[in-house]
Amino acid sequence: MTRLASLLGLCVFLLAGCRAAPDAPPGVVPLSARFDSLAQPYAFALPVLDPVEGVDGVRAEDCGRCHQTHYAEWRGSTHASALHDLQFQAEISKPDAPKWLCLNCHIPVGNQRDSLVTGLAGGDVLRPVARPNPAFDARMQAEGVTCAACHVRPDPATGRSVIVGAFETDRAPHPVRVDPAALRDVCRRCHDPQGEPLTRNLVCWFETYRELDEGRAALPPPLRSADCGTCHMPATRRRLAVGFDDLPLRTSHRHWWTGGGVPKTFGAYDSLLARGFTPALDVAWAGLDGVHGGDSLRLTLHLTNRNAGHHLPTADPERFLLALVSLHDAGGDTLATARLRIGQTWAWNPARKLADNRLRQGETRAWTATLPRPPGLLRGRLDVTVLHVRLTTPNARHMMAGAPAVDEALLPGGRRLVAELPAHYPFATYVYAASLDLATGARRVATPEELIARSKAEQRRPLPERVY
Ligand code: HEC
Ligand code: HEC
Ligand code: HEC
Ligand code: HEC
Ligand code: HEC
Repeated sequence: MTRLASLLGLCVFLLAGCRAAPDAPPGVVPLSARFDSLAQPYAFALPVLDPVEGVDGVRAEDCGRCHQTHYAEWRGSTHASALHDLQFQAEISKPDAPKWLCLNCHIPVGNQRDSLVTGLAGGDVLRPVARPNPAFDARMQAEGVTCAACHVRPDPATGRSVIVGAFETDRAPHPVRVDPAALRDVCRRCHDPQGEPLTRNLVCWFETYRELDEGRAALPPPLRSADCGTCHMPATRRRLAVGFDDLPLRTSHRHWWTGGGVPKTFGAYDSLLARGFTPALDVAWAGLDGVHGGDSLRLTLHLTNRNAGHHLPTADPERFLLALVSLHDAGGDTLATARLRIGQTWAWNPARKLADNRLRQGETRAWTATLPRPPGLLRGRLDVTVLHVRLTTPNARHMMAGAPAVDEALLPGGRRLVAELPAHYPFATYVYAASLDLATGARRVATPEELIARSKAEQRRPLPERVY
């Protein structure tokens, strides 16, 4: 009997070898056999979470009843718009997008998914096998990277939802598990998916943690032990909830996650500075020749990654900095321009990195822009502008052409919004602008407020006139 059982066991084991698991239908490879759950956590949605005891729910809006300031900060963040991002909507509608996998980082919690992927037909990431999800919550789906994505996990013993926190408190009306290290490292799940190329064009293939670790030594001493939260969740003192008597003031962390300063709506520019945006780039004029004679003007700029804890720019491979130097006559007409692109260069289909000239931590790039100088030029101006570009005009046109495929179940009205992309979605932000009056030698550098106003004004600029 024992022998028979072990023989049967061996058969199952062998079958499992062919089909990856005993209980999967033929030809279906379970996710757990295809991906390593520790090294590739993004291949797995977080589990369906029960309502948190004492909260009566698990949506961000439920947390927001008490944690009003955290909620307000999060609402204005890119995390909260991770599903409704128009570029995201356009990209997941492409036939070659492994949509389920994209959703694992942009709407990661089981409750946010109308169906749950259990395996892959033939192991192919483009052929997910899913079952309907009775716990689907459409309101929570719209919350993108919601509070629970970072803060709520099932208790391993009971399966009941607990809140992961960073300090001991006896004041919380909900269960708390104190695990500061896990909480602060939660970013890794989504912001560091380095690994195998999953499809011919899988985007979101960033290595921000590796960049941080390899370049730590170049950071100013107080930042050498920084993690993502040190810079992206700055500390402040405040009470953590409303509606409770005598809560102590505590060290708390802003839930802004301000990054490269290209927000997802034009309206969001209005709060960008209040949300702590400071571009990492420092621009210094290091030399200028040829203003008073000769046949060329030569301006040397020093471009420094002053305070990013990683490459500038990091993350999405399509982001880049665009530095432009232009010479204008007294009437304002453009006489000559020079440009420098700082970013990664990829070839697509299959995706391959061809070049990468991003600025490492603390690195300075010297760039000399040489412009032909028309004879007799005495008056006029020399402009320097730098943009952080997230989306180029050609890529935007490509997305707009795909608008009819947008899934309106995920974003009501999404087809029209993507078709009218330039009116709704900022492509780039001005991070530096300065102007030199050639006659007087006076130089004026734009204030942060002026840069915001210029960035907002791009909304009305027709695509053919955009420089990126
Ligand atoms: C491993 C987690 C992960 C997966 C999987 C993932 N993303 Fe992302 N995505 C991110 C993170 C983190 C960012 C923010 C990085 C940034 O803003 O540069 C992001 C940003 C984006 C953006 C905005 C880019 C920008 O520059 O603002 C788009 C569009 C996007 N993702 C599309 C997709 C698509 C399409 C897929 C599936 C093919 C996908 N993502 C899969 C984590 C992921
Ligand atoms: C009914 C009010 C209420 C609701 C709803 C609520 N909280 Fe809390 N929460 C509190 C109070 C009060 C504290 C304790 C504050 C203190 O000790 O200063 C707290 C503490 C916390 C802490 C810190 C715990 C620690 O030990 O570090 C986190 C994180 C937290 N809540 C997250 C959430 C999340 C996420 C939700 C939604 C799923 C939520 N809370 C819903 C009232 C609430
Ligand atoms: C569940 C996945 C997930 C986790 C966990 C996560 N992020 Fe994100 N994060 C995203 C996605 C997706 C985006 C981009 C959304 C978009 O562009 O639409 C993003 C955007 C950002 C941005 C904004 C980039 C920009 O320029 O607007 C910053 C900064 C950021 N995250 C920092 C963090 C930090 C710090 C942590 C950890 C405390 C963290 N994230 C945890 C998925 C995640
Ligand atoms: C992208 C991940 C992420 C998301 C989303 C997120 N938090 Fe947090 N939260 C953190 C981290 C990390 C900390 C802890 C920082 C520390 O103490 O080291 C934290 C801390 C807290 C604290 C403790 C006090 C403080 O400010 O440090 C509260 C309360 C809290 N979060 C509530 C919320 C609420 C409410 C939401 C949704 C509206 C939310 N969080 C969304 C990552 C996140
Ligand atoms: C020393 C401070 C610092 C640390 C540490 C840091 N960042 Fe940043 N990060 C910045 C600054 C400053 C920017 C704005 C860069 C710019 O001007 O575009 C930024 C931008 C970003 C962006 C937007 C893309 C871009 O290049 O603008 C993402 C995404 C991001 N950070 C994620 C992370 C993650 C994930 C970690 C942890 C692995 C992290 N950051 C650690 C300072 C930091």
